[in-house]
Amino acid sequence: MKAGATRPYVICHMCTTIDGKILSARWGRLPGGGDAARLFERTAASFSVPAWLVGTTTMKEFAGRNVRLPTSVRRIARTDHVAKPLPKSFAIGADARGVLRFQHADVGGDHVVLLLTEQVSDAYLAHLQSAGVSYLFCGGRALSLPTALRKIGAQLKLRRLMLEGGGRFNGAMLQARLVDEISQVIVPVVDGGVGVTSVFELPGTTSTRAAATLRLLSHRALPGGVEWLRYRVLQQPSRA
Ligand SMILES: NC(=O)c1ccc[n+]([C@@H]2O[C@H](COP(=O)([O-])OP(=O)(O)OC[C@H]3O[C@@H](n4cnc5c(N)ncnc54)[C@H](OP(=O)(O)O)[C@@H]3O)[C@@H](O)[C@H]2O)c1
Repeated sequence: MKAGATRPYVICHMCTTIDGKILSARWGRLPGGGDAARLFERTAASFSVPAWLVGTTTMKEFAGRNVRLPTSVRRIARTDHVAKPLPKSFAIGADARGVLRFQHADVGGDHVVLLLTEQVSDAYLAHLQSAGVSYLFCGGRALSLPTALRKIGAQLKLRRLMLEGGGRFNGAMLQARLVDEISQVIVPVVDGGVGVTSVFELPGTTSTRAAATLRLLSHRALPGGVEWLRYRVLQQPSRA
């Protein structure tokens, strides 16, 4: 699929250690006194892209408190539900099985949109509607990422989108050839933990080939020994 033609241009923006690990709770205070969350937000904001997309585990960190859903509700059609008028900025999360809960329709002023499959319950759809959350259906039982990106472009009128983790969702997006650019903010930390989530965790068994080759677009040194690299994703070698 040609970038920009039928889906938004996707920039994967992540803050990582020098060994590519992304669990910032393990890093403590950064050398130079910096804070990883603020570093992430500041660099992300510089793109002025009004929408971010994350996997279910990451979205859970921004979701509401866990509430029980009613057992019997009316049947709700599996049709997309998007707030009108269209909000100006979006917090988009994958939720194939309907596990997230919301009491508000926004995260820090960004309107919540969930990417669902048709397997979610009527009670879940009623819950999202009462919270004012928007949703798009992107598959029967599995979430189709190309469908999700097409719908995000068409229904939310977005031409650019920030993909902001976590590793498993980034990996699935990269494997589906839906990542156009990578923006990596590298903090001067070695994680070293075997099995600690890294910036791209591709689904399936380990391939014999690398996932993608890149062309460096820019490189900036930030205060505190932080490096900020931007890459264009080139052709992705076929995977064994
Ligand atoms: N350092 C950073 O810049 C940064 C940025 C973002 C997040 N993070 C951290 O990353 C961690 C989470 O990363 P993670 O890799 O465990 O989780 P994740 O990528 O946030 O979410 C993974 C989940 O997304 C769901 N999903 C739905 N559709 C999918 C698809 N087509 N392909 C793959 N997954 C799909 C799956 O949940 P179901 O199986 O339930 O459907 C999957 O388990 C958190 O600790 C977060 O704080 C760090």
